Amino acid sequence: MLFRSVVANLPPGMSAYTMEEVAKHTSKTDCWVVVSGQVLDVTSFLSQHPGGELAILTFGGKDATEEFDMIHPPDVIPKYAPDAIIGVVGTAAAAPHRLLVEVLPRRA
Ligand code: HEM
Repeated sequence: MLFRSVVANLPPGMSAYTMEEVAKHTSKTDCWVVVSGQVLDVTSFLSQHPGGELAILTFGGKDATEEFDMIHPPDVIPKYAPDAIIGVVGTAAAAPHRLLVEVLPRRA
């Protein structure tokens, strides 16, 4: 069996953040939430949120995936707040890239 490893960089402007880091951003002037593994800086979106500021602020610094998915269609983030996505949740060791291992079939 031949193994090949591929390093996949995160897109430009994206970083990996720990939940510990996310948890520091809980205020109206600095609010981050996590949805489906993506870290969103929703500070400037708060005042535009159709569900109100408080709905998001309640989840400031937390993973809101479950509640978010119950209320919103899947394309709502790219549609209304594409600039809010600042990165993904991961360990500091995983930043700035992730290691993907690809298994190739043996050559004859
Ligand atoms: C960038 C992130 C978000 C975007 C783009 C977004 C967008 C929206 C939109 C477009 C609506 C109106 C839906 C409709 O009635 O057709 C809405 C409603 C709502 N959102 Fe968000 N939202 C975000 C984050 C969140 C988060 C983190 C929460 C907390 C779990 C939340 C809670 C709510 C609630 C409670 C409503 C009101 C639902 C209702 O009135 O029936 N949203 N949001």
